[in-house]
Amino acid sequence: MPMRLAVAVSGRGSNLDALLTACRKDPVAEVVLVLSDRPGAGALARGRAAGVPTAVLADPADAATWMEPLERHRVGMIVLAGYLKLVPAEVVTRYRGRILNVHPALLPAFGGPGMYGRRVHEAVLASGARESGATVHLVDEVYDRGAVLAQARVPVLPGDDAEHLAARVLEAEHRLLPATVLAAARAELHMKGS
Ligand code: GRF
Repeated sequence: MPMRLAVAVSGRGSNLDALLTACRKDPVAEVVLVLSDRPGAGALARGRAAGVPTAVLADPADAATWMEPLERHRVGMIVLAGYLKLVPAEVVTRYRGRILNVHPALLPAFGGPGMYGRRVHEAVLASGARESGATVHLVDEVYDRGAVLAQARVPVLPGDDAEHLAARVLEAEHRLLPATVLAAARAELHMKGS
């Protein structure tokens, strides 16, 4: 029986779309809930368009605000796909080892509080790094600290600006996140013997 996924979003939802597409091809996981701290997030509209139940987190810092929809939809794994706030500690405890995040750089570099969106790519360009990429990692109580599960590298090219690099990294995210989530779901289901 498929792993029941909740996807937490704050932005456009292109990673959510990539995950929905992957789950249609591989039934090991199913997106059963889309959560957001932002009522106007484009990703909520994408979830609704795909027929997935959505919920707005009225108080994203409050664990109960998360646990109610997570329990109602019998969620087994949480994926942060562009979600920008910390996950409440009680939720991290309850879902330890089963919350994954995608970050648009090669952690542990270029991560931590405030490192999101174009700021990440500007920092990579300013550093003179010759490559960047995407990271999928486990989520704990500190931004971007959890164990790295998978990474995908992309080149930094001469003349790159933040937009060009962001687009190249986002393409890598769209491949890396679904592949890693499905693999984690498969492993979790095997260990639970289901
Ligand atoms: C992605 O770059 C992701 O790495 C970061 O936020 C962005 C989300 O984009 N955490 P989207 O909303 O999935 O299009």
